[in-house]
Amino acid sequence: METERKIAIFGLGFVGLPLALSFALRGCRVTGVDVDEKLVSDLNRGITYHLESYRGTPIQEILKEQLETGRFRATTDPDPALASCNDIIVTVGVPVTNGIPDLNPVKAAATAIGRGLRPGQLVLIRSTLTPGTTRRVLQPILESSGLKAEADFFLAYAAERIAEGRAFEEFENMPTVVSGVGPRSLQRAREVLGIATRAELVEASSIEVGETAKVLENIARDVDIALVNEFARFTKALGIDIFEVVKVANTHTRVNLLLPGPGVGGYCVPNALYYLLPRALEFNLNLRIFPVARQINDEAPVHAAGLVLKNLPVPPNQAKVAVFGIAMKDYSNDDRLSPAHTVIKVLQTAGVQVKAFDPAVPTRYPFSAASLEEALRGAHGIVVLARQRDLDYQNLAFFRELMSKERPFIVDTRNIYDRATVEKAGFRLETL
Ligand SMILES: NC(=O)c1ccc[n+]([C@@H]2O[C@H](COP(=O)([O-])OP(=O)(O)OC[C@H]3O[C@@H](n4cnc5c(N)ncnc54)[C@H](O)[C@@H]3O)[C@@H](O)[C@H]2O)c1
Repeated sequence: METERKIAIFGLGFVGLPLALSFALRGCRVTGVDVDEKLVSDLNRGITYHLESYRGTPIQEILKEQLETGRFRATTDPDPALASCNDIIVTVGVPVTNGIPDLNPVKAAATAIGRGLRPGQLVLIRSTLTPGTTRRVLQPILESSGLKAEADFFLAYAAERIAEGRAFEEFENMPTVVSGVGPRSLQRAREVLGIATRAELVEASSIEVGETAKVLENIARDVDIALVNEFARFTKALGIDIFEVVKVANTHTRVNLLLPGPGVGGYCVPNALYYLLPRALEFNLNLRIFPVARQINDEAPVHAAGLVLKNLPVPPNQAKVAVFGIAMKDYSNDDRLSPAHTVIKVLQTAGVQVKAFDPAVPTRYPFSAASLEEALRGAHGIVVLARQRDLDYQNLAFFRELMSKERPFIVDTRNIYDRATVEKAGFRLETL
């Protein structure tokens, strides 16, 4: 147990909170710093909506336990945390608006850290960044403290790779790429990362390699998903099932296709291209495949909405549709950039009344249904966009009772349903 180590973690979101608790579980004293006052106050009262668990213990219990031991607390005030910690970890994100990455939050975090930075501290950046940001943007801000990276304080980069829902397990077991501005920074980062991970720490020869590899990893998923999403258009025209085609193709030992779906959401994959483009523009590079992949995945929810509109038995302005799953992917509570938002917007713009049910997403929207019954009552059809644990997708007789008496439809973008079962229950089934 690392009982002497004090760590300040900036950003207490999907990455920062489970990371902070991972260090606390291993004995470190962790102060989480976040600008979101409500989040900080919720966390200090033991409230979080994340769907993480570690060895069967839900994050809610881990949070309460670590608050009780005093090994974790959250604050909006960075100064006391900086005054007493050995290591500082940054997990503040880079939001993208209209294709433009906004470095202000991460710059603001670096400015706050720079004000309180002391000799001997490590600043370990774990955010996904436009390649070059750590050295070109964050290092000068940190050095405005008067301290020099590598000589007076340590500066390193190790992109976070976890998938939401598997954070604790992946902090522990996912190989992590680490790089530093110099060998001392690298060594110190290795020491700190080694507290929470037993997986390999892969050294990158420069911070730029680490930053760029992370962007590549995310863009690779975007391209891979675009590939199968585009292929789904072909298999549908051919009258065969894309999920079966992918399954069969994946029996080739060197093929590892992903699954198609209603689009790509969340913070990481859709934003990655926009972290790359500003640098490509500086070099006058015309990158072709990545923007096309992004466009295909951006169009996927519009396509899914089109499948719904095509199946409406009444004009759209007389129709009601139940959406199952607002989350950006199966079993997630995160609906940032979720394809569901586009699907719902397209349907609403066409005049359809939409009620969406997702037992895991805490945010309430005007289209949110408080219950499954509310979503289904009088609906002409269902569109399934994400799986959730607390929703019984196979309760078809119950759905049928609540829905419009005309033969309702199900648009299944997640490959949940068996055609014969659905049709026997009195539904029409539309797949990708
Ligand atoms: N979500 C994932 O699964 C995932 C996986 C791997 C990597 N990442 C990367 O990790 C980073 C964080 O992602 P996330 O999903 O946790 O984001 P998030 O939005 O859930 O969390 C970021 C937190 O930072 C806080 N914040 C903003 N400005 C701040 C400041 N100046 N000081 C302190 N806190 C501040 C926000 O209030 C928020 O709570 C991003 O760079 C993301 O690309 C995310």
